[in-house]
Amino acid sequence: MNWGIPDFLQKKLLFVTGKGGVGKSTVAIALGIRAALEGRRTIVCEVASSENASRIFHQAAVGFKEVELANDLWAISIDPEDAMKEYVLLQLKVRAMRDLLFRSRVFTYFAAATPGLNELVTIGKIWELAQLDRKVKHGRKYDLVIVDAPATGHGISFLQTPRTFARIARVGPVHSQAEQLEAMVTDPAQTGSIVVSLPEEMPVNETARLEHELVDDIGMTVDRVIMNALYPDRFPADATRAIDRLAASDDPEVRAGGRAALSQARRVAAQTEQFERLKKMVSAPISTLPFVFRPEIDLHAARQLAEVVE
Ligand SMILES: Nc1ncnc2c1ncn2[C@@H]1O[C@H](COP(=O)(O)OP(=O)(O)OP(=O)(O)O)[C@@H](O)[C@H]1O
Ligand SMILES: [Mg+2]
Repeated sequence: MNWGIPDFLQKKLLFVTGKGGVGKSTVAIALGIRAALEGRRTIVCEVASSENASRIFHQAAVGFKEVELANDLWAISIDPEDAMKEYVLLQLKVRAMRDLLFRSRVFTYFAAATPGLNELVTIGKIWELAQLDRKVKHGRKYDLVIVDAPATGHGISFLQTPRTFARIARVGPVHSQAEQLEAMVTDPAQTGSIVVSLPEEMPVNETARLEHELVDDIGMTVDRVIMNALYPDRFPADATRAIDRLAASDDPEVRAGGRAALSQARRVAAQTEQFERLKKMVSAPISTLPFVFRPEIDLHAARQLAEVVE
């Protein structure tokens, strides 16, 4: 294990972003495990509005409550409706009024009619989790909150909502709270982001675009780009000829082995090419994670990744 805590895990809040399917949930959990191993009390938040809840969260039956996954590692799945209810409960001290609100379904209508409100209350809940002085009763204190952010197919609008709301609501509590959220999201001392990428053409393009948007449009810091799922390079550079020869062998068994090796070597070459492109296209430092040869990424596999994050 590369002991020594990666600098970005010293922050208070970390958003793990990236295109759909690149490994955001896997990386978020792996980083959570690593931070916890380094002694930071960490919670990984899944944003439930994202289409598919990750397998690891399923296994641990994580819902809108803080669930302990391992020593110093917690998880929560943030459902916007629950986040909204909690927010109202914290805001409205008069019980009768809260009951009235919940019963009248005013809420559901209000939320449905206000684009971005779900995202705003979700970020509000993330903010609440990151407070040392938690608003919810008996709230645990975390050193680090890691957010498994929605796939960027939906754009970076999720991270933009605080600013949007701060502008729409010119005055009042929504304005000041949205401003507070925006200040937190864009404070490089407290908050960072990780962009996950894959060694393939489209994800590499998307990563470069995303970094640009996070920095220029939102004003966030990109602490790391993580090139995920790199194949191991098993063959020395001068083995190409030998592999070609084996793949053309008359002996069927030798040929099968040679072809497997050839396909592996080609894959590595294609990945290397994309990795080189990525290096030219992004400004943030790049870390890599290996492809894990397992039927599925469970907590155990995520731990393997956790240990090699640089
Ligand atoms: N380093 C890796 N090695 C092997 N498999 C991986 C690795 N990282 C991710 N995977 C696999 O790739 C798939 C997608 O990963 P994951 O669910 O983490 O992506 P995601 O970005 O969160 O996806 P979504 O956008 O759908 O939320 C999963 O099946 C996961 O197990
Ligand atoms: Mg995911």
